Amino acid sequence: MASLTSATDTMHTEILKVDASSIHFEQPGAASSRLTISDPATEASLHRAVKILQTTAQPVAFPTETVYGLGASALDDAASRAIYTAKRRPADNPLIVHVSGLDQLQRVLHTELPAIYEPLVAHFWPGPLTVVLPAPHDPATGGSVVSPVCTHGQDTVAVRMPAHPVARALIALSDLPLAAPSANASTRPSPTTAQHVYADLQGRLPLIIDGGACDVGVESTVVDGTVSPPRLLRPGGISLEQIRAAGGPAWANVVVGKATAGKDEIVRTPGMKYKHYSPKAPVVLFNGCGNGVSAVSKFLQSHPPSITSSSDNNNNNNNNNDNINKPKIALLPTREFDTSEIETAITAAGFLVMIKSLGKSGAEISHNLFSALREMDEDQGCDMILVEGIDEANEGLAVMNRLTKAASTVITS
Ligand code: TXA
Ligand code: MG
Repeated sequence: MASLTSATDTMHTEILKVDASSIHFEQPGAASSRLTISDPATEASLHRAVKILQTTAQPVAFPTETVYGLGASALDDAASRAIYTAKRRPADNPLIVHVSGLDQLQRVLHTELPAIYEPLVAHFWPGPLTVVLPAPHDPATGGSVVSPVCTHGQDTVAVRMPAHPVARALIALSDLPLAAPSANASTRPSPTTAQHVYADLQGRLPLIIDGGACDVGVESTVVDGTVSPPRLLRPGGISLEQIRAAGGPAWANVVVGKATAGKDEIVRTPGMKYKHYSPKAPVVLFNGCGNGVSAVSKFLQSHPPSITSSSDNNNNNNNNNDNINKPKIALLPTREFDTSEIETAITAAGFLVMIKSLGKSGAEISHNLFSALREMDEDQGCDMILVEGIDEANEGLAVMNRLTKAASTVITS
């Protein structure tokens, strides 16, 4: 590829809306598939993005079924580097490479899928499952195919085939494997709408393709079958239970990696050693605290929130002047919290409270998690966010992994 130029200064960030339902792939599975786009405006917008991806080293943000991604060619050093610059990501945290199907994996990345992944890929591609593969070499030159910027020079590369029609179409139309981390500024909650991306990265990328809110809401599951026994490196949109059920004997004893690591520890998923998913307001996570009334009351007595400089609490609907100087607490209940009793207790303690249920089912809670954290932090200017945790079964493992990292304090019963 010709050498690409990257942007250095603040640029105008355009948002283009597309209609994802107008994009159709003939085949549902991981095989390559003919693509049709029935809406001309959507087609034109996708071609604008493809042109940027093919001819510049600037990244483009687009929806996937998990979270919005910030994508650029995984084959090009400058393009891959521009992703790190735009989101201020530490250089030693490698990127996931997104492919349009098994055909592109073979043809462009010169990679055969190791047999251990076959049952998983048959079940979950396209979808929120990322597999770690040996990093491919070009048979002609012997050089690495994927940019070493993207892999941080590791001998493995993480690959997934996204299910979202917009992501799939961009990869297929450009015929470029796209390196794409979540399109948030590093350390912030992952973005599940185009507006979240704009809030974090405005002026740092030329284009955001807006395909509406992401369905799953947490990132893909990362698994490593290059080691024995195979490991689950990051819980995500495909649950541990689903992997055990669909993966056959090789995945029956999959080992779950630990969620956090020390700063200097060498880990197989470098992403886990950094501050992550954090709103500006402190997040307090309540685990196994029943109806929550006594746990929340006790916590607020010993750790009363104060008004932060970033919030003036003037944007609450209540125009009562008395409220202007009161700290504002967000309450994000899930399954067992007695919301009205907790509201009474928080109000009696002299604080304002905003309540937003994350939902009851694992799918709802995953879907709402990052957007609720952002809404309470960025839109409502809350001074503290209290969240009710859930058990770690099924979607709960990914939800609790994100919440544990977002939280500055974890209260257990
Ligand atoms: O759902 C997703 O996976 C989203 C969307 C945009 O596709 N992407 C995403 O990327 O979450 P990112 O960069 O935010 O997270 C990538 C994770 C990190 O924890 C990173 O350390 C790990 O994957 N990773 C990347 N390459 C790896 C490798 N070769 N071996 C092990 N872990 C790897
Ligand atoms: Mg991320």
